[in-house]
Amino acid sequence: MALTFQTDDWQSYKMDYGQPHRELEPLEKEIAVVDAALGALREAGVLPRTSYDQAKMLAHRKAVAELFEIPWTAITPRMQRLLYAINAIAQPQNVIAAGVFCGNTFISNAGAAVGPGASYTAKSLIGVEIKPNEAERAERNVRRIDPTGVARVVAADAIEVCRNFPVPIHLLYLDADGGPGVGKGIYLTILQAALDKLPPGAIVLAHNSVNGAGQLQRYFAFVRDKASFGESVNVILDGEGLEVTVR
Ligand SMILES: C[S@@+](CC[C@H](N)C(=O)[O-])C[C@H]1O[C@@H](n2cnc3c(N)ncnc32)[C@H](O)[C@@H]1O
Repeated sequence: MALTFQTDDWQSYKMDYGQPHRELEPLEKEIAVVDAALGALREAGVLPRTSYDQAKMLAHRKAVAELFEIPWTAITPRMQRLLYAINAIAQPQNVIAAGVFCGNTFISNAGAAVGPGASYTAKSLIGVEIKPNEAERAERNVRRIDPTGVARVVAADAIEVCRNFPVPIHLLYLDADGGPGVGKGIYLTILQAALDKLPPGAIVLAHNSVNGAGQLQRYFAFVRDKASFGESVNVILDGEGLEVTVR
């Protein structure tokens, strides 16, 4: 049986993809929902604790709103907070984010270690985007928040980057779209390319566990199989969803 965390209101909690910074609910409600999700992840043994720096999360959000060019995004405020919190709690040294488009998804992860929301020190945070012009914009966006270069975006195929990555990957974030006929099915190919670089305790995050579920059935079967992974929880707090898996 798949482990699931689900809010009562995930179907009515909706964003306008063209208005990424619009508040959808009172902040206290957003924090409570994400706290409950983090509690479920702790209970499942995916995370060691649930606490993270609330003020730094808001500093991260403010910097993204002020400095990023975002044509559209499907990252809701709840998802932005959840991604930030998972990274702030797990403190991954090396991160790969696959399919980052304009970089908003990537910085929701990396912002826990760079820029005004930084709450730990990481080694290498890499966003991978296959379309060169999108990668260029994402890199431009990320540079405005992180002048150090710890977080950076490369124009490449995430499958190749994972296959050739020379050091352990402590957190892998999946958001690539393989196009007609493949779509989110590409997650499994990217994960398999990264598999031997994921140490015990590594975290794998898969966006679109709800609205991409049709294309993710083989991915779900793989990450929910104890032969390769520890626990896996489908976190459903918006219409996109996030499958959170620990190695
Ligand atoms: C739909 S977007 C993700 C958007 C994100 N959910 C958001 O809300 O901002 C998926 C991105 O994955 C990229 N992509 C597709 N295949 C890829 C691959 N093999 N490696 C890296 N990026 C890839 C696409 O070019 C596209 O920009």
